[in-house]
Parts: sequence; structure tokens; C-alpha cells
Amino acid sequence: MNAVPASLHMAPASRKADFPGLAGNWAYLDTAATAQKPQAVIDAITKAYGVDYATVHRGVYERSATMTMRFEEARATVARFIGAASPDEVVFVRGATEGINLVAQSWGQRLVAGDRILISALEHHSNIVPWQLLRDRTGVAIDVAPLTADGRIDEAALEALLTPRTKLVSIAHVSNVLGGVADVARIAHAAHAVGALLLVDGCQAAPRVALDLQALGADFYVLSGHKLYGPTGIGVLWGRAELLASMPPWQGGGAMIETVTFERTTYAPPPQRFEAGTPHITGVIGLAAAVDYVEGIGMAAIAAHEAELVAAAREALSRINSVTLFGPQDSAGILSFAIEGVHPHDIGTILDESGVAIRAGHHCCQPLMAQLGVPATARASFGLYNDLDDVARLAAGIERVTRIFGTAGTRA
Ligand SMILES: Cc1ncc(COP(=O)(O)O)c(C=O)c1O
Repeated sequence: MNAVPASLHMAPASRKADFPGLAGNWAYLDTAATAQKPQAVIDAITKAYGVDYATVHRGVYERSATMTMRFEEARATVARFIGAASPDEVVFVRGATEGINLVAQSWGQRLVAGDRILISALEHHSNIVPWQLLRDRTGVAIDVAPLTADGRIDEAALEALLTPRTKLVSIAHVSNVLGGVADVARIAHAAHAVGALLLVDGCQAAPRVALDLQALGADFYVLSGHKLYGPTGIGVLWGRAELLASMPPWQGGGAMIETVTFERTTYAPPPQRFEAGTPHITGVIGLAAAVDYVEGIGMAAIAAHEAELVAAAREALSRINSVTLFGPQDSAGILSFAIEGVHPHDIGTILDESGVAIRAGHHCCQPLMAQLGVPATARASFGLYNDLDDVARLAAGIERVTRIFGTAGTRA
């Protein structure tokens, strides 16, 4: 167990009551799939759809002007939270998936056959398939950096794969299966040394790691609001201002233009250039409320709290003979495991009978499953609201699975 001062982790542990979705005495250990929502976020959305509701950016009446102000304040809140240089670097999208597709379809237009994109072996399908679609359109090549034995991106091997034709490196900050945290600053440095850009999929990092995007050195960063205790259907693409300014629009429509005639259209500067149509107004307001909520606790405290929970879970599960744990020792809030002779879906079903919710499956990482040599894993993932009681319930549930399947027994 790490030496986390009690004062750091007590605050998050006492937060269960803030989350109506946690009522009913269940141990929710599927936060990597989607996080439960604090009442503060639900209230902010209700108000935005209720007494505050109006469109943004268009209305000349007061309610719309006020909503526009709140919407743009929310952008500034997100910008501050992630350490962007300016709110104009924050593009609202539907989620991380849409953010990566935006980059592939807009920035990707400058790539030609022979150019290369470098990803890693642990990427989510949303950081693989958009590049394959781009490859099919342009003829770019995709390289895949291998993992270390304990399931991190092998940074030295990644560096060895960089070439002057590598135009983009695109990697997960935190793996949604193994929980390892990538050394983004090192990878950014190496990518830039060959003239490549770095896109970071921050879906699992944004809720778990304090972000300072200017210090990290990435060029693009994507995240999903629903994993950060905010609503579904809203996320962020962050890009360096000059980079976004150099990119063509990817969708056309209202709100992204300066002038339109039948002959020619000129486009608004970023971020509006990439936000065609009426935006997800209430999603943006809800996301800002989620940011306010986690900032009220502090990302350092959340990270320390999850580190303690994952360490406790590793210790408890490693005592059970038939359990294999995947991923690095210091995984961030996420722990994948297998039980010899038991399909992960059976683990998930039996744990559910004990009120413990985990995820079982390929986690949208089929190539990683192939690397691990398994069809699927069971995954417990923690959030700021989990506590050591949830860990104990997980361990007890797994012991029950091993008894049912006749693989019970503990290691010394
Ligand atoms: C690492 C990672 N990247 C991308 C995604 C895709 O996120 P979304 O479905 O919210 O777009 C996920 C979701 O599970 C993820 O864990």
C-alpha cells in the first residue's frame, strides 16, 4: 500500500452520497466505461434545460445572451482545467471518438501515401479505426509500438519506430484495460524530434490525472465528458491554436461560417469552425459543472485515492491462486484480471449477484486482447466515490467465483 496521507483520500471516499446512481448498496466498479454523475451535475443540467434554457450564439434576447455567456464560460472552465493556453483551443465534440475522427478527417487531409502514423498496441478501437479509414483514403501506413512485459507502452521501442515520414503519433494517456500511464512528455519530445505531431487520447486520464496540456507537450488531446463525471454526448478536442487555425472544417452548416453565398463560403476561426450546427448546450453546461465538482476535491487527491484503491485490490486479488492480474503495479484506477478456467462474462455475472458491477469483455481493444492471448478480461475500475469496502466486496465476490468453479485456494 502506498503512503497516502489520510487527509488526501478521505475526501473522495466520503462522496458516495453525492451520487444518486450509487444508491442501493452496490459496488460500482465500472467507472472506466462511464462515471456516475454527482447531483451537482444533474442539477446544472436540469436548470440549463429548465429556467435557463435558450439557444446560444444567435438569440438577441436576454435569455439567449445569458445562456451564450454561460456556454462560453464553460469553455473557459474546461480550458483552465486542462491547462489550455486559451478557451479558443477547446473544441466541443460528442466525445473522444468524435475528437479523433475530427483530427483524422480534417488534419489528416494533408497526409499523402508514404506518410506514417504511429499508434500503440494498447489503443482503444477509437484510436485505431479512424486511422485505418484515413489509410484507406490516402495510403498512409500505420505502425504499432509494442508494450513492455508489464503492459505499458514501450517508449524506447516506440522511439525506434519513428521515422522522418512519421507525421503523427497517437497514443492513450492511460490505458482503459491495463491502467498504465504513458510518459507523454517523453513521447512528445521524441515525436517532435522527427517532425511528427502527438495526439493523446485522454479519455481515462482526464478523470484520474491532473492535466497541464501546455507542459505535457502534446499537440492534440481528446476526452469524453461522461468519463469525467459529466454528461454523455459531450467531449473535448484540444489542439494548439496555430494547428487548429491551419485545419479545414470537417462538417459544414450553421455556426461554423463567416459568410455564405451560393458561390463561396468563408469559415469562422476555431473553435467555431469545427462546431457546425446547434451545439450540445446542456452537455457543455453539465461538463463545466463536472469540472467544478472534481476541482472542488482536487485531481491530486482523486489520483492518490484511486492509487490506494487499486493497490489494495491488487494485493487482495494477488492472494487468490487462480487469479492473474494484468497491467503495471501502479496502474491508475483500472485493474484487469482473469481467473483460470472461468470466462470473464461468468465472473461478471456472479459478481453482479453480489452487487458488484465490473466490466467483462474486450473493452474495445481487440488487438490488445490478442497480445495478451485472451478473448476478454474482467476489469474493475475505480472512481473518486469508491472506497475500501468496495475493494473488499470485489475480493469476496471473486473468492465466491473461485469456490463455484472449484479453483479456490490462496497464495501465501
Ligand atoms: C481509452 C479510451 N479511448 C477512447 C474511448 C472512447 O470514448 P467515447 O466512447 O466516450 O468516445 C474510450 C471509452 O471507453 C476509452 O476508454
